[in-house]
Amino acid sequence: MPVKQPAPGDLEPIETASRDELQALQLGRLQQTLRRAYEHVPHYRRAFDAQGVHPDDCRTLADLARFPFTTKADLRAHYPFGMFAVPREQVVRIHASSGTTGKPTVVGYTRGDIDRWADLVARSLRASGGRAGDIVHVAYGYGLFTGGLGAHYGAERLGCTVVPMSGGQTEKQVQLIEDFRPDLIMVTPSYMQVIVEEFRRQGKDPRAMSVSIGIFGAEPWSEAMRRDIEASAGLDAVDIYGLSEVMGPGVANECIESKDGPVIWEDHFFPEIIDPVSGAVRPYDGQRGSEEGELVFTTLTKEALPVVRYRTRDLTRLLPPTSRSMRRMGKIVGRSDDMLIIRGVNLFPTQIEELVLQQGRLSGQYQLVVTRPQRLDELKVRCELAPPHAQADREALARELQHRIKTLVGVSAEVEVGLPDSIERTLVGKARRVVDLRPK
Ligand code: DLL
Repeated sequence: MPVKQPAPGDLEPIETASRDELQALQLGRLQQTLRRAYEHVPHYRRAFDAQGVHPDDCRTLADLARFPFTTKADLRAHYPFGMFAVPREQVVRIHASSGTTGKPTVVGYTRGDIDRWADLVARSLRASGGRAGDIVHVAYGYGLFTGGLGAHYGAERLGCTVVPMSGGQTEKQVQLIEDFRPDLIMVTPSYMQVIVEEFRRQGKDPRAMSVSIGIFGAEPWSEAMRRDIEASAGLDAVDIYGLSEVMGPGVANECIESKDGPVIWEDHFFPEIIDPVSGAVRPYDGQRGSEEGELVFTTLTKEALPVVRYRTRDLTRLLPPTSRSMRRMGKIVGRSDDMLIIRGVNLFPTQIEELVLQQGRLSGQYQLVVTRPQRLDELKVRCELAPPHAQADREALARELQHRIKTLVGVSAEVEVGLPDSIERTLVGKARRVVDLRPK
């Protein structure tokens, strides 16, 4: 598929600025953010004081490492509006993360925050190959989740025609895609699989879809999943990353011409990679990037909810710039909370996803069921046949996959291969890949 290269005038000057220019901008904005947090958010004043640091101590970007981390627990402890740095009247929008337990995490935006968010999602769409005049089908959920509205405002900002479909109603998704002929789709990768299946269920070829670019994110997805979706839907698949605490979608986005990991929009978000246990910053090397660790962000321009050294729990590494002057992040391996430890071996769902998808006759749907019948955790991998292979020998496939999981991941797992469509699909929100049945 021909890939549109960005014309020079398509990019904002900062996307091609020198590292020195970028770092000077970052330092000024960082100092401002630390001051704003310290002066307007009691939590930050207490936390900085407790650590014996003051915003004036930040004279270089490396000085940020002296400041305390912020965690989801800090945001929860100040539920709902206690972390806002502006009077509530200046907050024009609230979003919240669902939160599987307890209270949701609430985030707020000033008019200016919403404006910059739209600009950054527009930039992300451009990096993905989108242009003014394109039709964009948004199937991220609308509502408190940042996906739908975040994508929507950005696509409008770029000058696109937006179809605010939201998640669910899969038959209608297919109908609107056929009738409106969108150029781009923005959706979770797992729900894109479901849309592709629905095309086939209706006897239609998903590759005949008008969509030439898919912007996928909000959940971890493997390179194997990228290849699978690109082949089955006949499009270019690019990765969009973000989290509500930091902004929402569009914190980082992959460039279609290189597809080598999301470019972090570093003029607005300062990334660090830390050792998730000790909290020490992993060194960044201009040639090789950093080692893998937990991604930490400090916002540089947020007004309502500045966050200082927010621990995302996402595991990845920083990579040197390629298509833009800003650094990239590797594809997210998983969240530290999603890491399973099966008989001493660390495992992320995406590792199993790679193997399931490599197996040709299985659909890309899978689930990891974790139990603890006695003292040790046990893993069952549930997957299913792809419809064209409904007659395949399920036992033999299960044995083969079990062997590959054992040799390539090092984990002993029971494997169950079901009939086509036997695994429950997630139609709205993020796919539930892990079913944890261990006693609490
Ligand atoms: O998922 C924002 C978003 C919406 C991003 C639409 C991209 C597209 P939250 O609900 O706060 O926000 O969840 C954030 O989702 O910390 C990651 O664990 C995960 N995540 C988001 N994007 C990716 C991605 C939105 N591209 C959490 N790859 C993050 C892997 C991702 N994981």
